[in-house]
Amino acid sequence: MNATAARSAQQTAQPSAKPPVIETRGLGKIYSPDSEAEVIALQDVDLRIEHGEFVAIVGPSGSGKSTLMNLIGCLDSPSSGTYLCDGVDVADLDAEERAVLRRDKIGFVFQGFNLLSRMNALDNVAMPLSYARVPVAERRQRASEALAAVGLGERMHHRPSELSGGQQQRVAIARALIHKPAILMADEPTGALDSRTGQDILALFERLRDEGHTIILITHDADVAAHAGRVCVMRDGRLHTDTLSAHRAPVDDAEMSADTSRAETSGAETRA
Ligand SMILES: Nc1ncnc2c1ncn2[C@@H]1O[C@H](COP(=O)(O)OP(=O)(O)OP(=O)(O)O)[C@@H](O)[C@H]1O
Ligand SMILES: [Mg+2]
Repeated sequence: MNATAARSAQQTAQPSAKPPVIETRGLGKIYSPDSEAEVIALQDVDLRIEHGEFVAIVGPSGSGKSTLMNLIGCLDSPSSGTYLCDGVDVADLDAEERAVLRRDKIGFVFQGFNLLSRMNALDNVAMPLSYARVPVAERRQRASEALAAVGLGERMHHRPSELSGGQQQRVAIARALIHKPAILMADEPTGALDSRTGQDILALFERLRDEGHTIILITHDADVAAHAGRVCVMRDGRLHTDTLSAHRAPVDDAEMSADTSRAETSGAETRA
């Protein structure tokens, strides 16, 4: 980790009375500990993200990006260190409280969209609300508002197979936004899209950032990372550099180059 860059990133971050939306201290993850299959996937990650930041997480394949995202998203528990989400130590919560925190504060956009093919866009977006026992009429109302917000008001009765890739990605974003989460996390959100559609999705993320959401994107694409106000580079499970820029963060091509060959094949991968 580049200590100077991290310090400058923290000093330049927006001063706020609120606690950081995300704060990790010495976060680590070991898969299959004490076995032959042991993998130290994440080590000693200190990361502080303030409300309303737009952060890109980049780094070579296997460097721990998805592991970090899964921990931040409360989809998995760390092996060491602490994680505070909006000032709450997640380790102090039981499974049910963690599920509520995940539902209310964090929206996920997975690569490959994860939409249900038999449901139309409206029902896909409304689905998380059924788990929260929101009445049907309110579900449909909120889902149609979320679709309108991503520019798909005209397409809400179409099934995923009747939508373009970019439109499906926007349905997935609308679904992630349905609980108006403080944090929107996306793993390779533009990986499967052509560059024009990818630009539209990035413009949407920038708008959401302007509306106050905290955006965290994992990406192999230097152009995508350049849209973020801050770029965190992962290397061998560690936060290698953390760089802030006023508008667009310049990304060192060398930081991304290790990924180039893999980025071309990543569209075929399935994520949990
Ligand atoms: N469930 C798991 N069990 C065991 N090892 C895992 C598991 N998930 C990830 N790993 C290992 O942990 C390391 C970090 O993986 P992670 O998925 O976080 O990488 P990544 O940076 O997201 O890579 P990519 O860019 O390929 O998605 C890798 O060595 C990977 O093989
Ligand atoms: Mg990954």
